Amino acid sequence: KAARPRITVIGTGYLGATHAAAMAELGFEVLGLDVVPEKVETLARGEVPMYEPGLAELLRQHVEGIGGASGRLRFTTSYEEVADFGDVHFVCVNTPQKHGEYAADMSYVDAALDSLAPLLRRPALVVGKSTVPVGSADRLAARLAELAPVGEDAELAWNPEFLREGFAVEDTLHPDRIVVGVRSERAEGLLREVYAGPIAEGSPFVVTDFPTAELVKTAANSFLATKISFINAMAEVCEAADGDVVRLAEAIGYDDRIGGKFLRAGIGFGGGCLPKDLRAFMARAGELGADQALTFLREIDSINMRRRSHMVELTRNAVGGTLLGKRVAVLGATFKPDSDDVRDSPALNVAGQLHLQGAQVTVYDPKGMENARAIFPTLGYAPSALEAVRAADVVLHLTEWREFRELDPAALGEAVAERLLLDGRNTLDPALWRKDGWRFRALGRPTA
Ligand code: UDX
Repeated sequence: KAARPRITVIGTGYLGATHAAAMAELGFEVLGLDVVPEKVETLARGEVPMYEPGLAELLRQHVEGIGGASGRLRFTTSYEEVADFGDVHFVCVNTPQKHGEYAADMSYVDAALDSLAPLLRRPALVVGKSTVPVGSADRLAARLAELAPVGEDAELAWNPEFLREGFAVEDTLHPDRIVVGVRSERAEGLLREVYAGPIAEGSPFVVTDFPTAELVKTAANSFLATKISFINAMAEVCEAADGDVVRLAEAIGYDDRIGGKFLRAGIGFGGGCLPKDLRAFMARAGELGADQALTFLREIDSINMRRRSHMVELTRNAVGGTLLGKRVAVLGATFKPDSDDVRDSPALNVAGQLHLQGAQVTVYDPKGMENARAIFPTLGYAPSALEAVRAADVVLHLTEWREFRELDPAALGEAVAERLLLDGRNTLDPALWRKDGWRFRALGRPTA
């Protein structure tokens, strides 16, 4: 039997680090590359530079030099080493929103390809995993052909990644589907080999062209964002009509054409993916002359942003019309639970707005404190939920951590100045809090 392909992973963020560890778990020899030496050093010690459940454990099972590890996983900063080692190179660098623009910043993807391609002296499949504007793979394939010394034996494929933060390991090892955009049977064969076994088992394998593969990712994220903004629009209507969006979501979700997932109304979506992917998609459609097809995404985005200001307004009204000097406790800073990521976090955005309007804001988050403090040093921070709510005029629940569902309303009630709680995520049980004398308000739900 021919030797198994050797894998490299370029870019070791959430996506790359998880992918590299998962490939090692499947028995492949893996070399991960990052241009940031500190990241490489951290990973080489079997440590993860961010909070991602299960990832550190998986790394430590495979990183070379760690006692008891398989040794199949190594890290480097050298593109030379990567080019010499790998048969399949996964490009997992990020494509953030460009500063002051909607479009995606492709400079990390371009730099990765421009660094790797001129060093490819042996047959190689370069597999893009980053989320990119449709048409990028075509362009990168041409660039690869131009730069690679090995010529046609260096090929490109596109293989979008759908993992969620907080579930990165699970999603990578058991994906809902595998999508590959390829131009040759060889490329398809290699990717089938890489994903054979436990990963592909039970996961549909969709083979398609470059543009479709790129679009699957942006379409999926746009759909998810649309679902969230849809239910948030219903929350606005429920508030106006005194209806209950939580019961409404439950009831429409029983229709399996609709489905109950991603129908939680609240302060909306954030993070490093959904918001910027929507915007990049609109920008790209504009370039393609198809902007009309996506004008509705502008509305999805603005419904989402409106949630944050609505939360601020609700808070201001709840404390008597002005935030000046009011003590506001904010539970949650990350954009979602089980993550330390505060990128475009609705929770932090709301906390920041309240602070700007004169409130005295104290934040607590189980994992996101350090990252939050780094971008919002002027907010107050407390080491626990109980400390955060001390003497508070109002408590805001803004990230749906399990820890917050398990809080004791009676104990918190002793610490606050006012038993007033605003649930921005609709995951707390109103009855439980009201029983202990709290005034409880949730977005899109009846007041009493
Ligand atoms: C998302 C996609 O889910 C994933 O497939 C893609 O690969 C990357 O982007 P992620 O950014 O990790 O993943 O977050 P996700 O779990 O999708 O949540 C996004 C945001 O939506 C969070 O801020 C979350 O709090 C919010 N959300 C989610 C809601 O407001 N309501 C919901 O019903 C679900």
